[in-house]
Amino acid sequence: MKSPAKSLTQLPKRALDLDWRLVLLLISSVTFFTYISISSSSAAAIPISLPKAASFKSILHPPNHRPNPTRQLNGSRIAVCLVGGARRFELTGPSIVERILRVYENSDLFLHCPLDSNAYKLQLLSDAPRIASVRIFKPQPVPETESQLRVLTPSNSPNGIQGLLQYFHLVEGCLPMIKAHQEKNNFTYDWIIRTRVDGYWSDPLGPENFIPGKYVVPPGSSYGGLNDRFGVGDYNSSVVALSRLSLISQLDSAGLTQLNSETAFKAQLSTQNVRYTTKRLPFCVVSDRQYPYPVGRNGVPVAALSSRGPLSGAKCRPCKPVCSGTCVGPMMSGLYRSWSWTEWANNTLELCDAHGEWEEGWETVFDNSAGKKLALARKRIWALNMDKCVDGFEKFKKRAAHWVGPSDAEICGLGLKKPA
Ligand SMILES: *[C@@H]1O[C@H](CO)[C@@H](O)[C@H](O)[C@H]1NC(C)=O
Ligand SMILES: *[C@@H]1O[C@H](CO)[C@@H](O)[C@H](O)[C@H]1NC(C)=O
Ligand SMILES: *[C@@H]1O[C@H](CO)[C@@H](O)[C@H](O)[C@H]1NC(C)=O
Ligand SMILES: *[C@@H]1O[C@H](CO)[C@@H](O)[C@H](O)[C@H]1NC(C)=O
Repeated sequence: MKSPAKSLTQLPKRALDLDWRLVLLLISSVTFFTYISISSSSAAAIPISLPKAASFKSILHPPNHRPNPTRQLNGSRIAVCLVGGARRFELTGPSIVERILRVYENSDLFLHCPLDSNAYKLQLLSDAPRIASVRIFKPQPVPETESQLRVLTPSNSPNGIQGLLQYFHLVEGCLPMIKAHQEKNNFTYDWIIRTRVDGYWSDPLGPENFIPGKYVVPPGSSYGGLNDRFGVGDYNSSVVALSRLSLISQLDSAGLTQLNSETAFKAQLSTQNVRYTTKRLPFCVVSDRQYPYPVGRNGVPVAALSSRGPLSGAKCRPCKPVCSGTCVGPMMSGLYRSWSWTEWANNTLELCDAHGEWEEGWETVFDNSAGKKLALARKRIWALNMDKCVDGFEKFKKRAAHWVGPSDAEICGLGLKKPA
């Protein structure tokens, strides 16, 4: 963290040619900044770039000094809610760190994940700039209420209504974590980015996706409603968007039935008068699931992870594409636009034949498209033994301001201990 004392001693020289009103403004900014720094017991999690501190910085350093997109958000407070199972996190995690967390380096990470045999991979997040709160929970059935059974449909959900409820619980679980952190530190976030552990980001999340008064989701993969694989919005919009379980009763009151995840999501925003818009986003959801190929009207296209994109959250895997160039148009034009369809024009999409398991040699295919840095992280995770894993997890835990979860030994043991 930048030392406030140092900034104060630098101030007089720098301020010489500024007029006195500006100097007073600067001093009050620095005082405020110092107060925040001193009053914080946990430096890891307090936003240092408050609006006043940011404007102070931008007076001293002309805007063109550092082309950091965060600048355009004018020192906003950003929470990143990251949820889901860590199945292929050795592929996705480093891309999330590089292309979301490091882009908005004042953002606070909130991680909500089930404990499973892949949770040990989450230690890759110790490279994140700021970790506010981590919760790794033992999965338990979510009780099903009459209201939920009326509103939701089990069709097309791999684990029926229970699967939907588990997913909703996972997403909504970020909210109490974020609220607790806000209360403890006496502020409210300006923005919440909601994203998934299994998202592979091929490019940075751009500042143009932060639109006051509108919730931004990706286009395509909308299954009759709205693509719910990513969202970003101001605080109030985000509270509605994340309240996936608790708003079901309102959907019930509105007389809605037979909703899947995406139609429930759309209804949830509409009934609460949250405006939304779509923007293409440079990520795909890395999936081990197998899907028939060629892709039928309601089928799921699986993109090659190496596609140019943006893939806007379409399913993907590392593969040598079986369909690219002129093959893609005829295939994708056959899909229902309001269902699993995703944007494909201008050679942005290449397709895998995903009817079987990931192909032999996919590691090399991945490394070639993801680059050296990400390939290295993959190899680092695969090389872990029990001792290194526990050390890595310990380091991760130390960086988090708040931590709820099983012991390092339990998390690492689940993934690394060979069955007897
Ligand atoms: C940030 O500040 C600039 C200039 O003061 C302004 O034009 C821009 O709209 C602001 N951006 C946001 C996201 O508030
Ligand atoms: C919280 O912040 C507000 C305004 O930023 C301030 O008025 C209030 O005194 C603060 N409360 C505490 C407990 O620090
Ligand atoms: C957000 O909601 C709170 C409480 O419901 C309200 O007081 C506040 O004005 C809202 N903020 C915006 C920017 O709409
Ligand atoms: C494809 O490229 C053309 C020309 O650059 C552009 O006008 C069009 O909007 C692009 N289409 C899509 C879907 O990206």
